[in-house]
Amino acid sequence: MMLRRFLITIALVVMIGGLLIAQQNSSKAGVEQEHFGARDGRPVILYTLKNSHGVEVHAMNYGGIIQAIRVPDRNGKIADIVLGHDTYEGYVPNPPYLGAIVGRYANRIANGTFTLDGKTYTLPKNDGPNTLHGGVTKTFDKVMWESQPLKDKNGVLFEYVSKDGDDGFPGNMHVKVSYVLNDSNELVIDYQATTDKASPINVSQHSYFNLKGEGNGDILDHEIMINAERFTPVDKNLIPTGELRSVKGTPFDFTKPAQMGARINDSDEQLTLGHGYDHNFVLDRKGAGMTLAARVYEPSTGRILEVSTTQPGVQFYTGNFLDGSVTGKDGHVYKRRYGFCLETQHFPDSPNHPKFPNTILKPGETFHQITVFKFSTK
Ligand code: GLA
Repeated sequence: MMLRRFLITIALVVMIGGLLIAQQNSSKAGVEQEHFGARDGRPVILYTLKNSHGVEVHAMNYGGIIQAIRVPDRNGKIADIVLGHDTYEGYVPNPPYLGAIVGRYANRIANGTFTLDGKTYTLPKNDGPNTLHGGVTKTFDKVMWESQPLKDKNGVLFEYVSKDGDDGFPGNMHVKVSYVLNDSNELVIDYQATTDKASPINVSQHSYFNLKGEGNGDILDHEIMINAERFTPVDKNLIPTGELRSVKGTPFDFTKPAQMGARINDSDEQLTLGHGYDHNFVLDRKGAGMTLAARVYEPSTGRILEVSTTQPGVQFYTGNFLDGSVTGKDGHVYKRRYGFCLETQHFPDSPNHPKFPNTILKPGETFHQITVFKFSTK
């Protein structure tokens, strides 16, 4: 009798313990917030999105920066696969735009100027003769965004009003960007904007990935497929010439998976101009909506990154300008080609290329784009 009671008690303790652990594990999924610093008298908040598979995305209201993405390899070992810093202060300044939202106009505008409805606008130049990633002062990567966790989803919403005249752009533009991490190991990035005067807009996410784990060498042995039969060749200032050139027979043909480094040192005019890959690819799409942009596989860890988007293009950038001058997380020195970016976007310098897909947002319209980063292994 005593023994039976004893055994039942043990069984109950084990069961309740198990239930508590299960509950703890499931309560791990969700959004957490921590104080990460202060800027302009406002708190910098780091949001941690976790899903039930142990995947984590950390993002802050300064620059909408994705500070970390933690995903398992094929053996379940977790690593942080994006370049960045351990502290908010590390991102001030952030010359490579590590992890940031870029805009009002991501990528380049030639000679820092464009004409709209008969009026010529002048933007600050910060890339030789060009404006890169929206200018110098109130660009999306350098401002404090309003932020709040999303109630019904595992995510965070960032909002920013870019003022009429900021960095030379017309119109007050209200921008919303949300990051949602779901249980299919997808980070869904949703961009929306409205304006009170016609203005160019191009927003993107500037995360640098290394699927071996940040700081773990270069990315040249990563295999990449890009869903593009054409790309936009550039001039010496990395401005598109206007041509949509076939990738066939060139080192830009990633329609079948190839190592990022396999042809990067080929003698090719475009690779020389870009110092490697730093080019916009024209996505092959069947109409509007989501389409696969690229798939990257890292053989030693088995990690896969798949990028899908509603955007017309993707800038494939192999971190050619990283030069060891940035020391990131855990004291890791980020050398040349230690990370790659897949910046889904409209084509660079579109305001000066009437034949490129339209980037002018008008009052009464809503700009809406979605990009999904999906993480898996093989
Ligand atoms: C973009 C550009 C690159 C470089 C980086 C930032 O990806 O295309 O040329 O300027 O931003 O370093």
